Amino acid sequence: MQISDNTLNSLHLFYQNQLKDVYEFDEVKSIFITACEHFLKKDRQKFQNNFNLKINQSELISIYNLIPELKKCTPIQYLLNNTSFYNLNFYVNNSVLIPRPETEELVDLIIKENNSNKTILDVGTGSGCIILSLKNNINPSICSAVDVSTEALSIAKLNSKNLNLEVEFIEADILTTTKFNKVYDIIVSNPPYIKQTEKENIHKNVLNNEPHVALFVYENDEIIFYKKIIDLCELNLKSNGILYFELNPLTANDVLNYAKKSNLFKTTELIKDMSGKYRFFRGLKY
Ligand SMILES: C[S@@+](CC[C@H](N)C(=O)[O-])C[C@H]1O[C@@H](n2cnc3c(N)ncnc32)[C@H](O)[C@@H]1O
Repeated sequence: MQISDNTLNSLHLFYQNQLKDVYEFDEVKSIFITACEHFLKKDRQKFQNNFNLKINQSELISIYNLIPELKKCTPIQYLLNNTSFYNLNFYVNNSVLIPRPETEELVDLIIKENNSNKTILDVGTGSGCIILSLKNNINPSICSAVDVSTEALSIAKLNSKNLNLEVEFIEADILTTTKFNKVYDIIVSNPPYIKQTEKENIHKNVLNNEPHVALFVYENDEIIFYKKIIDLCELNLKSNGILYFELNPLTANDVLNYAKKSNLFKTTELIKDMSGKYRFFRGLKY
């Protein structure tokens, strides 16, 4: 191993050199910090501004050993079977989408706008990151979560068990479901929303590793998931209940227009994310 001493500095430079063909500098740095946080069992705040820290040989080897898979563009979260979302640790593998920071913003919005004792349905739950974070923070009276993927649901169930947060999981295809057997105060969804035309701009680590059923909308209709969920609100969202979506900024206005035309909502709104893009929808039902 060409690492002159046991400092994070040398190992980081080695990472940069090995991974320069697959990731930008900042991406390598972020991957490196995630690996260090995992194997050093230290909060990143404790070392990310001080790469002079010396680590022991076994820590060094564990972090070093990730490099061949990282070179193949396997996401670090799948290699560690772990990711952090809204201050909780989630088990992840390639059956579920790796939760994104934008989705944390959506969860934050819902938490700030709602208090306890709500009933909530999460459509397309994946790892369970949205519903479990809501359960942990606003203590809803009922939490349900639906997904079409059996594999994803088994990961969501594992996370629910690990975090000791109770959720009712439902295996169903939202595109063919006309009604659920409960009526909710809140329905939330981050459905598949990447258009076929966007595929060529997606990094290999996403395209070759994350489940396409979670990423892409294959139908001719690019907002089909949003339309189906809006339609479900007629029977499954209470009066004064709220529908929240994470959106593709490219189709945000189409979703807004469909929601307005449905005549189900007294107010409908697009909300920007931290990078200034229309990323979220909120509709308050009549
Ligand atoms: C963009 S991922 C979101 C996962 C998770 N909620 C998150 O925010 O990280 C979309 C999810 O929708 C699920 N899904 C795709 N098609 C579906 C369908 N027809 N019915 C129900 N769920 C579906 C996928 O399996 C995936 O877990």
